[in-house]
Amino acid sequence: MTEDTSTPSQRLWTEVDQYLSAAMVPPVAAIEQALADAEAAGLPPINIEANQGRFLELLVRMSGAKRVLEIGTLGGYSTLWMARGLGEDGQLVTLELEKACADVAQANFQRAGAQEQIQLRLGPALDSLQAMIAEGEAPFDFIFLDADKENYPNYLPLIMQLSQAGTVLVADNVVRGGQVIDQSSTEANVIGTRRFNQMLGENPRLDATALQVVGAKGHDGLAFALVTA
Ligand code: DHB
Ligand code: MG
Repeated sequence: MTEDTSTPSQRLWTEVDQYLSAAMVPPVAAIEQALADAEAAGLPPINIEANQGRFLELLVRMSGAKRVLEIGTLGGYSTLWMARGLGEDGQLVTLELEKACADVAQANFQRAGAQEQIQLRLGPALDSLQAMIAEGEAPFDFIFLDADKENYPNYLPLIMQLSQAGTVLVADNVVRGGQVIDQSSTEANVIGTRRFNQMLGENPRLDATALQVVGAKGHDGLAFALVTA
């Protein structure tokens, strides 16, 4: 057995996440199995937690979204939570770079019976977004950004082109254990996240905020923006 080197705070955050999920998050077999299969396939365990998946489901429902875009599918865990929040007439497009992730995700969508509702586009998300814009893809109502952090500033202008007034944008990992306040960081993901947060604040078409999150995956944060025009 490997030694538990996590801090007391981390152990507490993990236990509270487990407690909150047990109290409020319904166990959805096809979603739980999606996570188990992603792990079994060796995908990195960087998925959101169950209580955050439920949060995304509720945000999709609260916003009345019918068209959801996800950038960064991984094994399709967050995808399935958001699909749950869509009515039967809702559609979801999810973008994934890695074939190995996409294969796991597609199998997970099939098992959940969501393969008609979810379209996965394989390849660099910047290319997929540009192609969707060129194809005249209709604007999305809800967009979840959870891909490579160094490209967040490059995704945002393309996201804006696929948005309209009322579109809700949620972005994961905007705090990164507090590294985000390090102005002198030379890490591409920190630089990308810092630039992205600044862009959210400065864009005249966006009203934005962000919240810190602690939980089973440590200290991080989620940004939220409403497209106003
Ligand atoms: C990483 C990516 C994520 O989206 C996340 O939630 C946590 C970690 C990563 O690339 O390390
Ligand atoms: Mg993430």
